[in-house]
Amino acid sequence: MNVRLRPITSDDFSTIVRWSEDREFCLAIDWSVDLSRAQVEEWWTRILSDPGDDFLRLGVERGGQLVGYVDLAQQDRQVGRAEFGIAIGERRLWAQGLGIEAGQLMLHHGFHHLGLTRVTAQVHRPNVRSLALMRRLGFREEGLLRRHALYQGGVCDVVIFGLLQNEFDADRCK
Ligand SMILES: CC(C)(COP(=O)(O)OP(=O)(O)OC[C@H]1O[C@@H](n2cnc3c(N)ncnc32)[C@H](O)[C@@H]1OP(=O)(O)O)[C@@H](O)C(=O)NCCC(=O)NCCS
Repeated sequence: MNVRLRPITSDDFSTIVRWSEDREFCLAIDWSVDLSRAQVEEWWTRILSDPGDDFLRLGVERGGQLVGYVDLAQQDRQVGRAEFGIAIGERRLWAQGLGIEAGQLMLHHGFHHLGLTRVTAQVHRPNVRSLALMRRLGFREEGLLRRHALYQGGVCDVVIFGLLQNEFDADRCK
């Protein structure tokens, strides 16, 4: 196990500001490029201080360093559903399996500690890394929103993914 999940604090802001200065990362995750340090810190302060009952964001730590984060957003406890999100902010660490590990940890947390039975994800179709990651995590394609969103300067389709708890558990037992 290379990564662990933990809360994000203001001590992590300098790391997150560094990610926000990486143009390729910003374009991939759809963050505004060229935000000032103050704007990034203000935005993250708001998310951390008032996340809302239905939103969980945890940091992804590797070797004592924050390298990304994972989300379970729009949690609906009655239905047992939430929306998954992920970013590995340290781009030099992409394609080394961290996304898969962090994603599996967060999905396990959602299914086995938060009482979720279904997790969804939405991915801009040109974001091939993220599409590959969702499939690798066991998500199934459930639909396509055609010409639905702005991404990297153009209008694109958005792929809808879904994963049920029993599918996640069965996958882990293989
Ligand atoms: C998407 C993201 C989280 C993936 O993280 P990662 O640590 O690089 O992912 P992993 O190394 O665990 O690889 C996951 C899968 O991605 C695929 N992948 C890796 N590099 C790839 C590339 N250059 N092109 C296409 N697919 C690639 C691999 O197929 C891998 O599956 P495999 O092990 O079966 O080969 C990361 O690229 C990222 O943070 N991107 C910006 C933010 C973002 O797009 N978030 C998702 C929004 S929906």
